[in-house]
Amino acid sequence: MHIDIVSVFPEYFDVLKLSLLGKAQQRGLLTVTAHNLRDWTHDVHHSVDDTPVGGGAGMVMKPEIWAQCLDDIMGLEPADFSADGEPVLSRDFHLVPATGAQSPAVAPDGQPTDATDTHGRPILIFPNPSAPLFTQADATDLSHAERLVFGCGRYEGIDARVPEYYARQGVEVREYSIGDYVLNGGEVAVSAMIEAIVRLIPGFMGNPESIVEESYTGDPLLEHRQFTRPTAWRGLAVSDVLTSGDHGRVDRFRRDEALERTSRIRPDLIERLDCKELSKNDRKT
Ligand code: ADE
Repeated sequence: MHIDIVSVFPEYFDVLKLSLLGKAQQRGLLTVTAHNLRDWTHDVHHSVDDTPVGGGAGMVMKPEIWAQCLDDIMGLEPADFSADGEPVLSRDFHLVPATGAQSPAVAPDGQPTDATDTHGRPILIFPNPSAPLFTQADATDLSHAERLVFGCGRYEGIDARVPEYYARQGVEVREYSIGDYVLNGGEVAVSAMIEAIVRLIPGFMGNPESIVEESYTGDPLLEHRQFTRPTAWRGLAVSDVLTSGDHGRVDRFRRDEALERTSRIRPDLIERLDCKELSKNDRKT
């Protein structure tokens, strides 16, 4: 997989060189390039933002700088609007729900772009607190992509025509929020999404079983608690069931705990649970 990230703070992504993500890059499973959006500015101040049209607080990131940068990274030619007459009104466009299939990146003339030759078809992703929530299912879906391009907004965000323009050019565009709170910019959200995606690339984890067993994978239950030795510590003991060596009882104990914790901590997940996913023993719990 190849990942491009565009940000006014590309240094944020130095952390991706650490730990398992760094190892994945050394092993050639992943390449990551963080670009500085200001490299595409032409003025002495390297300004990337302007006041909001219609008024209001804060600053909005300029579309022309973003588009020059993204065109270059994705190998797209700017669309030619010289003969198109009046510009059409920008609308709240609806992103196509993720299907796992990637739509082709095409140049304005309808031909596949160079970007497809070197790193596969890009999926363009913008973090946005006003977008649908990023879930484990999205991470799984995106872990099959060959090429992801992330655009990190700052201030009041990026001019909304930027994602709309690329979607109209045939690029698969997605916008995600990582939670119902507002961060200062998209960098932390993109780091979280990248970590969630990349650890699902086949070959990334030494022990792929640990992914199968964890929360949000398979059925949408929170994971049972985990303990290690000593089995009694500072007045707290782990259940005898876990030390019994009886795998059937251990599995049942953990499953019951997952059901109980999910009902208590995240009842919304239980409501989403398909009844077919519950066994007779689960229903007793
Ligand atoms: N940018 C600012 N806050 C965000 C959030 N919660 N998710 C994604 N992008 C963001």
